Amino acid sequence: MQNIVIAIDGTSASGKSTNAKLVAQALGYVYVDTGAMYRTLAWYCLQHGVDIHNVRSVAAVCRRWKTRLTCVDSQVRLLVDGYFPEKEIRTVETSAAVPHVAAVPKVRDWMKRKQRECVQFGNLVMEGRDIGTNVFPETNFKFYLDASLAERTRRRVADGVQEDLARRDRRDSQRAAAPLMIPLGAVVVNNSGQTPAETSELILNEIQRRLAASDAPT
Ligand code: DC
Repeated sequence: MQNIVIAIDGTSASGKSTNAKLVAQALGYVYVDTGAMYRTLAWYCLQHGVDIHNVRSVAAVCRRWKTRLTCVDSQVRLLVDGYFPEKEIRTVETSAAVPHVAAVPKVRDWMKRKQRECVQFGNLVMEGRDIGTNVFPETNFKFYLDASLAERTRRRVADGVQEDLARRDRRDSQRAAAPLMIPLGAVVVNNSGQTPAETSELILNEIQRRLAASDAPT
């Protein structure tokens, strides 16, 4: 039997991580944060003095860096030189650099390959910006999360992070390669004013409904 992939895409601070983790936990699936993979590349480029504005240099990193996928506590990690830069990828510098590396078509090809390899770990809840449109377009389980800019900004500030979300979303939506957009057939969830418990319940109910429908005799 093929593994199931739940694709959760959406804008920055729309609750993708929180809800994807809750859904993965409830279903006993493996959680994959694809943003962390792009962040790891951006961090690696900054560490090694690679010009993040130079498309060829960034693409060359993907050809030569030494990476490995592992799964720890039902969460996939991308290791580079055997190291998981968990804290380093969340800095303001990395956040500012990541949309540049994420816009490079060769980077997106590399990431798509790696992200598809994650099915080796089991059924997945994968969050990102292009999971339903580009990485697993064949899945029947697609969700697109959004919330008002004011609410998303409040959430980031509550996490102690100051960043221009509108600018990052614009970059992610306007790039030529696999831009952020609502996947065909996705359930769109605007979770302004909702708690994570409410949003994840809504997602879980829809997954159960679709799972039951796919089991039903035709
Ligand atoms: O979800 P996040 O904030 O950790 O994502 C970091 C950046 O990576 C964000 O600017 C968009 C980009 N990204 C992407 O282009 N495609 C993905 N599948 C995941 C993230």
